[in-house]
Amino acid sequence: MLDEKAKKTMLRKIPHGLYICGVKDGENLNGFTVSWLMQSSFEPPLVVNCVKKDSGSHEMLKKNGVFSISFLEEGQKDLAAKFFKPQSRVGNKFEDVEFYEGEKTGCPIIKDSLGYVECQVVGSVEKGDHTVYVGEVISAGIHREGKALNLESTGWQYGG
Ligand SMILES: Cc1cc2nc3c(=O)[nH]c(=O)nc-3n(C[C@H](O)[C@H](O)[C@H](O)COP(=O)(O)O)c2cc1C
Repeated sequence: MLDEKAKKTMLRKIPHGLYICGVKDGENLNGFTVSWLMQSSFEPPLVVNCVKKDSGSHEMLKKNGVFSISFLEEGQKDLAAKFFKPQSRVGNKFEDVEFYEGEKTGCPIIKDSLGYVECQVVGSVEKGDHTVYVGEVISAGIHREGKALNLESTGWQYGG
């Protein structure tokens, strides 16, 4: 039998960053906080992004096959918190957050972030309550220097 407590304790020790994933569907833009993200290949440059299946963003990503990742800086915990909650009207989360649309994908990129990558989905694994999207990095940009926000520093948990 799986030791639930050990499973949770150990899985929560996996270090994670905190990012805002931007998605689009026609005129509709949305963004959500992600932590289950990492690089998975140098050549071609790939990342894996695990997206909650019952979220609105999952539908948008599945349909359109593109996403952006905005890299938050240490101390931008409040900004990360704005993007947790599902919104009744798609796009609401960006009402008081400045953004622009990525040149390659049109996905929203947060202006007040360290920088971004834009990705084209090249594969996916639909197992469990999150889908693993493999994204090829097709565009990237730096806004400013700084250290990235990590999950541990926020005191929040996502995992286990
Ligand atoms: C600390 C933290 C980390 C999160 N990491 C992820 C993640 O890696 N993938 C994911 O799909 N959702 C993650 N979420 C949940 C989404 O941010 C949340 O489901 C969001 O409401 C989805 O937005 P939407 O409903 O507008 O699509 C995380 C939430 C928190 C609080």
